[in-house]
Amino acid sequence: MKRHRIMSVVGARPQFVKLAPLSPRLREIGEERIVHSGQHYDYEMSRLFFEELEIPDPDRHLAIGSGTHAEQLGRMLAAMEEELVVHRPDVLVVFGDTNTTLGAALAAAKLGVPIAHVEAGVRGFNRHEPEETNRVLTDRLSAWCLVPTEAAVGHLAREGITEGVHRVGDVMVDALRRARAGDASADDRVRAMGVEPGGYALATFHRPANVDEEAPLTAIVEALAALPMPIVCPVHPRTRARLEAFGLAHALEAAPGVHLSPPVGYLTMLALLGGARLLLTDSGGLQKEAYILDVPCITVSMQTAWEETVASGWNRLVPPDAAAIAAAADGFAGGATHPDVYGDGHAAEAIRDVLGASV
Ligand code: UD1
Repeated sequence: MKRHRIMSVVGARPQFVKLAPLSPRLREIGEERIVHSGQHYDYEMSRLFFEELEIPDPDRHLAIGSGTHAEQLGRMLAAMEEELVVHRPDVLVVFGDTNTTLGAALAAAKLGVPIAHVEAGVRGFNRHEPEETNRVLTDRLSAWCLVPTEAAVGHLAREGITEGVHRVGDVMVDALRRARAGDASADDRVRAMGVEPGGYALATFHRPANVDEEAPLTAIVEALAALPMPIVCPVHPRTRARLEAFGLAHALEAAPGVHLSPPVGYLTMLALLGGARLLLTDSGGLQKEAYILDVPCITVSMQTAWEETVASGWNRLVPPDAAAIAAAADGFAGGATHPDVYGDGHAAEAIRDVLGASV
């Protein structure tokens, strides 16, 4: 049987999580080359994930680093073109909705390399979010749209994309099940953050719309400081920089019951989420993980790409406003039903089968 040449491209934190369950499956049908764009580069944002999730070391590191969107995409295009010309894969696998995703897909499309998009068809319906542009364009360029949900199939159909669409389920369910099953020290991880399992809220914020301007970030800090329970906040580097620039870091650090930390790895994040009474976030991935783990979620945004979590009553969308966040949190214990919309934890095998049959 022919061994396919597969190139997987990752670069930002959520993509490492999605690659983890898929990489071993791809290696069953071909030779996988892993390319790391370097969009995330701090130890806690990158290397830690490879170690914890036992992802093979990247074969190539493009070191695109931080910058404006144009700078990141420009560097990505040039570096990926060179990489693709030298290695000529039969398929390029990209994940999710970051600048790494679109940069790799665009470079491949220009060279006629077929693209498989993991987490295709997802839409937040806000064209001002950079992720939405990345999603729409990557799907348009892809030969295989590997779709997590029924809703995502519908979004693609409305954009005229019906060929090469495969509903495979969500690889984040695969990743989460694997990691939780293998982690006996979840409660210790929670206690190490200074709180007791079941007795705190978890909060993470990093979206430019919430953290880059002073008004929304101030409102979020006020809401967190006023929450009537202990709260754990792993702080993204982007948010850390803005908290300091706006003089808000001290207020948050000094608030009683607020436990700030640097970004945490995947296992600690899942342990923290599993033990939380409530999640407050603007992360797309965490909204979905909260749903899978039955944790009520408040999303500080008026849009979400994970509409199923809102429809079932487990996720409340609120603006960055302290009173609105407090009202949403008051007595919130989740939805009445919990449909299994994100698949059964076998998405990676389904992707292997789709690509194995058609590359
Ligand atoms: C990116 C993705 C977003 C995803 C998020 C997960 C895009 C457009 N956005 O947002 O969809 O949800 O990753 O975290 O691709 N920085 C560091 N160390 C790092 C990485 C970043 O200090 O290891 C700082 C940089 O100075 C940069 C800022 O964080 O200014 C933001 O990083 P960037 O990669 O631009 O986007 P994210 O906000 O992480």
